[in-house]
Amino acid sequence: MSEPLPLLEAAGNRDYSDAFRRLWPQAIEWVEPYYDSIHLRHTAKWLVRLDPYASEPLLIAALTHDVERMFPGGTQPDKRAGAWDDVEYNTRHAQRSAVIVGDWLREQGLPPEFVDAAVPPILEHEFGGSPEGNLIQAADSISFLEVNGHLVMAWVLHGETSLHHALRKLDWMYERIQRDDARALGRPYYERSRATLRDDVARAVP
Ligand SMILES: [Fe+2]
Repeated sequence: MSEPLPLLEAAGNRDYSDAFRRLWPQAIEWVEPYYDSIHLRHTAKWLVRLDPYASEPLLIAALTHDVERMFPGGTQPDKRAGAWDDVEYNTRHAQRSAVIVGDWLREQGLPPEFVDAAVPPILEHEFGGSPEGNLIQAADSISFLEVNGHLVMAWVLHGETSLHHALRKLDWMYERIQRDDARALGRPYYERSRATLRDDVARAVP
């Protein structure tokens, strides 16, 4: 039994390896400059709410899964076309994050087994697949619906996409969730983000 780690309070007093106890605060610090680091932190929070015993590599995957956008050449979906579920873009995004996180973990001295376990869930965070992939995808979706409504609204207000496509983005983030427990947890955030987007855009563009 030991003290909970930051963001992982929902896991209670579960045990972590010493290596992970050192790595976790470093990883939080590493992703901090990312413009949407709050979304990454909340993905880790939701992951342990869904599975308090999630593996240590999976926790790192949740906290870092979008980090490629922090580096030059970061990917973005075709917002104007509303191509949220585009396989080519989402695969490129996930693969680039997996490479960057893998390199960073090796630089921190993590063993190959740890890196090899962190990479697959990053690759699966958009479409799911394995149980761990479905878990990180669900945590990513709930976190997005919880904290990223303002980003989606900014896309509309800045003319990057239409209200229709913005609402479809929220639909996609909810509908792709494959776990029933996560759908139930995410539903209020989905409904709230949809209502807020409609109201705020109507207010801003009378
Ligand atoms: Fe994400």
